[in-house]
Amino acid sequence: MTRNKIVVLATGGTIAGTAANAHDTLGYSAAQLGVEDLLSSVPGLDGFDVTAEQVAQVDSKDMSFEIWRDLALRCAHWLAQTEVQGIVVTHGTDTLEETAYFLQAVFAPSKPIVFACAMRPATALLADGPQNLADAIAVAATPGARGVMAVCASQVHAALNVAKRHPYLLDAFESGEAGPIAFVENGQLRQVNDWPAAGDGAVENFKKVERAVLWPRVEIVMNYAGASAATVDALVAQGVDGIVAAGTGNGTLHNQLAAALLRAKSAGVQVIRSTRCAQGRVLGGVDGGLPDSAGLSPVKARIALMLTLMR
Ligand code: SIN
Repeated sequence: MTRNKIVVLATGGTIAGTAANAHDTLGYSAAQLGVEDLLSSVPGLDGFDVTAEQVAQVDSKDMSFEIWRDLALRCAHWLAQTEVQGIVVTHGTDTLEETAYFLQAVFAPSKPIVFACAMRPATALLADGPQNLADAIAVAATPGARGVMAVCASQVHAALNVAKRHPYLLDAFESGEAGPIAFVENGQLRQVNDWPAAGDGAVENFKKVERAVLWPRVEIVMNYAGASAATVDALVAQGVDGIVAAGTGNGTLHNQLAAALLRAKSAGVQVIRSTRCAQGRVLGGVDGGLPDSAGLSPVKARIALMLTLMR
C-alpha cells in the first residue's frame, strides 16, 4: 500500500486565532478556527491525501494532561495505519516545546510528527500560519522523515532541542547549540542535521500514558538571588512527587534552596537539577546528591521525570 496520507491533528493556538481587525496582532483570541478553516487557507494541498481531526481547541498556555493523553491516543492510532506517511499537529507556540517533547518521549516515532504554529492570528494582514502549516505538511510528506519536529519561519527543529525564545517575532523558535534540522525552501527541504532518533524504548511510556488516571505532580523551582526554602518546603508538605530545580549557571543552587531540596529528597521526592541558562547543559553529574537533567531544559526535564514516575 502506498504511504501517502497526511493526518492533521488540531489543538488550537494562535494559528487558529482571530482578532476583530486585521491590524491587531496582540488583542486576539487564540483557538477560534477549526481545522478545516486552517486547511482552507493553504493553497496547493490537492496533491496530498489529507485527513483532519480537531483533538482540542485551547490556548496552549492552558494545555492539560487530558489533552496530552487524547493527542497521544490519536497519534498512536494514526501512526499504526500503513497508509499514513506523517502527522501534523497544529498547536499554540507557548507550550509547543513541551507537547512536542512529550510526544517524542512517548513515541520516538519512525514516522514524522510535525508541529505547525503561528505568531500572528489567522486574521492578521500578514498571517504566518498558512505558510508554517504548508511547510509542516511538506516536512511530514518527506520520504524518510522521522521523529517529532516543529516548523516555524522556514526552520525545522527537533522536539528535543526546540524552545520558544521570543514573545512576538515571527521567528520565535531556536534549537540552541544543536541548530535546526532543516530549512524549508520554497516547499523543498534542505536538511543540515539528522532526523530525531527513533526507537522502541518509548513503548513503555506510551503504555503508561494510555493507562494514566493521575499524573505525577512534578513542579519546577528556580534559583535566584535571595532564594529560600519556602517553595520547596510548601511543595513537600503538599505531597509533591518530583521537583526540577532550574539552577543558575551549571545548575548551582542557593545554599538554603539546596538544603531544602536535599530534605525533599530524603523525604522521598525525586529531585533533578537543570539550568535556567538558555544554552548549554549542566555538567558534572550528581552534585551534592542531586542528579542533573541530562541536557534537558527545566520544562522538558519535568516531563521526563513525570513519565519516569508514572506508574
Ligand atoms: C498559544 O500558545 O496558544 C497562544 C500563543 C501562540 O500560539 O503564539
